Amino acid sequence: MIDRAMTAIRLGILGTGTMGRALARNLADQGHDIAVADADPAKARSIEGGRIAAFDDAAALLASLGSSRALLMMVPAGEPVDAALAAIRPALRPGDIIIDGGNSHPDDTEKRAGEFGRTRIDYLGFGISGGEAGARHGPSIMAGGSPDAIAKIAPFFESAAAKVAGRACFAHVGPAAAGHLVKTIHNGIEYAEMQLLAEAWILMRDGMALGLGDIHRRFGQWRESQIGSFLVEAAHEVLAKIDTDSGRAAIDLIADRTEQKGTGAWASEFALRLGVAAPTLAAAVFARNLSTGRSGIKPPAPTTSGAAGETLLLDLEGGLLAAKIAAFAQGFAVIDAAGRTKGWATERAAVARVWQGGCIIRAKLLERIVAAFERTPGLGNLVDDPAIAETVRGALPALRRIVSAATLVRLPVPALGSALAWFEGRNAPGVGADLIAAQRDYFGAHGFERVDRPGRHHFDWKTP
Ligand code: 6PG
Repeated sequence: MIDRAMTAIRLGILGTGTMGRALARNLADQGHDIAVADADPAKARSIEGGRIAAFDDAAALLASLGSSRALLMMVPAGEPVDAALAAIRPALRPGDIIIDGGNSHPDDTEKRAGEFGRTRIDYLGFGISGGEAGARHGPSIMAGGSPDAIAKIAPFFESAAAKVAGRACFAHVGPAAAGHLVKTIHNGIEYAEMQLLAEAWILMRDGMALGLGDIHRRFGQWRESQIGSFLVEAAHEVLAKIDTDSGRAAIDLIADRTEQKGTGAWASEFALRLGVAAPTLAAAVFARNLSTGRSGIKPPAPTTSGAAGETLLLDLEGGLLAAKIAAFAQGFAVIDAAGRTKGWATERAAVARVWQGGCIIRAKLLERIVAAFERTPGLGNLVDDPAIAETVRGALPALRRIVSAATLVRLPVPALGSALAWFEGRNAPGVGADLIAAQRDYFGAHGFERVDRPGRHHFDWKTP
């Protein structure tokens, strides 16, 4: 008879920083015995107790796990992951499962998984979203790796993940690198939504001269509307915060520049590499770059007022709806292109489902996105879905009015503007690429396609 206690897989966590410790506590709350270790043993010891046992180093932690074991690495992406792998490598044996739960670059994960592919050790890439609170109370987990290994450890992560309608926000999205690619695109969409909300904020504050109270109320209404999302809630709460020292609104004390760790840029790099039009994702990255590079005197923008301001305010919700759909559609297009290029069977409906809870881009809209990809798994682009297309058609006039109004009062709206240009580009009678193709042929004999005949063609441009 098989003794379950002897064969059941045991999980260790290497790295007890903010995310690692929150996940360890979450898993322990779910009834799992968790072993932890950290480069700083005191840090690991500080969370010991109950179902959490701390060890002084990775080798001791691995040795404690018995014969069937998995190790979740919660260490910063990049060099620290390689260093952790080098440190644990001598202690690994066939059958072990190693999971990188950080924001690793998908190329790094692909390379590392390839290296482990020559062993009988499974290397998995998990995108884990939701920040500290998510990790503690229910993150969204985008799992990449071999189906067998994922099936073995799924009970841990399914129990710890956020639940939406009773379903765990844990999905197998392809091989190891796919887990981190999906998380990278999640972050690209995260940047885009944050930038869209920032543009709405500035339009209301500087373009419509609304007071903080009115703007806060508007975000409160949006929370309940079809553009409701975690980030709308976060903005709503941020705008209510008062600094107790000064008695001033916290937002008025924060410098108008923002940093980034790079995952948003990676999302755009993938779009560029794969030849996917994802301008709203890229605009959000460039807007952050611009925010840190500004200098000089900033004159006040002329404001819209009266009826014009009122109409604009109403248009903001529709404009944001269309632009958010654009950001999701662009992100899913990158995931689709990556999946096709790499031969991954990444199901977009599963990705949309896993983003419905726990993660930073959870949003009401995702219910409709899940439905669209479930209706048509082979959908070209999200906005080709008839129901989504109808919503876009209804919301586009508002987006056009907002972008026009912002431009006239000299307020930059790069994400809203790029979303609009993306939609117009998809639907315009022409985009001028014929002239570009002709010029390429004119100066480089690169050839072009014709509208009246198949194949590639070339004109002798110098002969009249
Ligand atoms: C998440 C977030 C998280 C990310 C931060 C900061 O899903 O929980 O995406 O992984 O690291 O949001 O990102 P930036 O520093 O790049 O803004």
